[in-house]
Order: sequence, then structure tokens, then C-alpha cells
Amino acid sequence: MEKVALVTGSSSGIGFETALALARSNYFTYATMRDINKAKKIIEITQKEKLSLKVIELDVDKEDSIKLAVKKILEQKGRIDVLVNNAGYGLFGCIEDITMDELKAQFETNFFGVFRLIQETAIIMRKQGTGIIVNVSSVAGRIGFPGTPAYISSKFALEGLSECMRYEMSPFGIKTIIIEPGVIKTNFFSSMKVNKGKPDSPYKEITEKVVNGVKMMASMGTPPEEVAKTIIKAIQTEEPLPRYIVGSDASMFLEAKRMKSDIEFENYIKKELFND
Ligand SMILES: NC(=O)c1ccc[n+]([C@@H]2O[C@H](COP(=O)([O-])OP(=O)(O)OC[C@H]3O[C@@H](n4cnc5c(N)ncnc54)[C@H](OP(=O)(O)O)[C@@H]3O)[C@@H](O)[C@H]2O)c1
Repeated sequence: MEKVALVTGSSSGIGFETALALARSNYFTYATMRDINKAKKIIEITQKEKLSLKVIELDVDKEDSIKLAVKKILEQKGRIDVLVNNAGYGLFGCIEDITMDELKAQFETNFFGVFRLIQETAIIMRKQGTGIIVNVSSVAGRIGFPGTPAYISSKFALEGLSECMRYEMSPFGIKTIIIEPGVIKTNFFSSMKVNKGKPDSPYKEITEKVVNGVKMMASMGTPPEEVAKTIIKAIQTEEPLPRYIVGSDASMFLEAKRMKSDIEFENYIKKELFND
């Protein structure tokens, strides 16, 4: 039977590469994006390679948009086998500087949108008795550092949710996989939102340092194709692991976290990020 996949945020980066990788691996793939005017490149590749890939609109911030997209897929294919929750962005700025509206918007996309989509698809997968949900988290879902507390909190929330899903949903045949990329060369760094606070903010310098640091690391980042490859490998494994790390930077930080006490790790991060 033809397997059906849904990927969010397929207009660029990890979502773009993952949608193509799924289609190339013979999944009928719904490459969803909030602005279908950005679909030109993926459609060109789809036609050139004769892939089974369709672009449909889906804005994870909008409940109606999620429901409509899932309804369309069910009408056309009658099933969803793989859901890749990828859409997301980064809000940078320290706790005292960012606004509650900015924080809520960050959670709307990176967490509430994911939650809604999981609710809409889990019911389908449960009835099928099979399904895989891939949540694209980040190394920032396991490690806190300054300058981007909103983004980090949203990814920590996603990690917690994913752990709960594994217990609740596996008895119904639904597998949950968390992907933890390090720095990946995508539009993430040009799309990120930055609030440096008021001109006299005492946190201005730290936000600038973090933003400049990640932008610099971005040019040396892992290609998004590597994340896509990891996702394909994970979903094709009989018993996938809870977490897959992508990138040597992510492996290094997470290994240090595993080996060190909380205080040792805090000092290590201060040294690595700020030469403290
Ligand atoms: N790049 C990294 O270093 C890195 C590291 C770890 C984790 N991640 C995670 O990887 C995921 C993908 O990011 P990326 O690196 O591939 O960045 P990207 O190239 O900027 O792609 C982000 C995608 O999310 C979409 N998106 C944003 N808000 C949306 C919404 N409300 N509804 C639907 N789609 C929306 C974007 O659409 P538009 O084109 O319309 O904006 C775009 O397609 C994110 O969850 C990010 O947190 C990235």
C-alpha cells in the first residue's frame, strides 16, 4: 500500500529537503507550506524527477488551515502514515526584553501548532493502527543558553510533549521520533526574529553576541540534506530510537551534557559560548 507523508514548513531548509527525500523514498508526500507562492522550486524538482509530491497550503498558526489540509489529504489518500512537524522559527532576545506577544507567537508556531497537528493526525493513525510522528526539535530543546529563551522554551516543551507521546501513543501503533539538529545551513538565520530591547537594555550586548555567534556558525552549519537523511533512516527503522542527533556540534554539546554535572555543564557552556 502507498504510504502517505505530510511535512510542515516545506518551503525551505529542512522541510524542503525532507519532503523531497520522502518522495524519493516512495512516500506520496504532501509538502505543505503557509505560502504556496514559495512552491516553484519544489514543483520544478518534482516534475523533473517525476516524484509523487503535492504542495498544499498549511499554516500551523491557524487551526482552520490545519483542519482543511488534513481533510484534503484524507479525501485524496484516505490515510497519513508519516507526519513531520518541521515548521518553526527562532525568536532571539533576552527575557526582560521580549514581549508577551512575541513569546506567545513563538509558542503558537513552534509548539501549539505542532500540538494541534498531532491531535488531528493521531486520531487517523490510531484508527489505522500505525503511524510515525517526527518532531523536529533542536539541540536547543535539551540545552538552555542566554539570548533566546523563547525559542529554547518552545523546543523544551516539544521535547516534553514527545516523551509523553511515546508512552500514550505507542500502544496504538504510533511511533514518535525527536530530531535534534545542531546548526543547519538554512533560512533559519535570515528569518529569525530579534528583539534587542530598548536602547538602554542591559541585555543588548548579550543578545547581539548570541545572534552574531549563531549567524557566524550558520555559514559552517550542516547541510539540511543531512537532517532529511536522518529522518528517512529513522522512519525506516523497525524500532526507532526516541532521539536522533544531527551535526557534530550537536553531538559535542549533548555528549558534554551527558557527561557533566549541571554546574560543570553550565561552566562549560559559558566557556564555549562566551569565553568566560
Ligand atoms: N537551521 C537550524 O540551525 C536548526 C537547528 C535546529 C532545529 N531547527 C528547526 O528546524 C525546523 C526547520 O527550520 P529550518 O532550519 O529549515 O529553517 P527555514 O529554512 O527558515 O524553514 C522554516 C520553515 O518553517 C516555515 N514556517 C514558519 N512559520 C510557519 C507557520 N506558521 N506555518 C507553516 N510554516 C511555517 C517556513 O515558512 P516560510 O518560508 O513561509 O517562512 C519555512 O518553510 C524548525 O523547527 C527549526 O526550529 C533548525
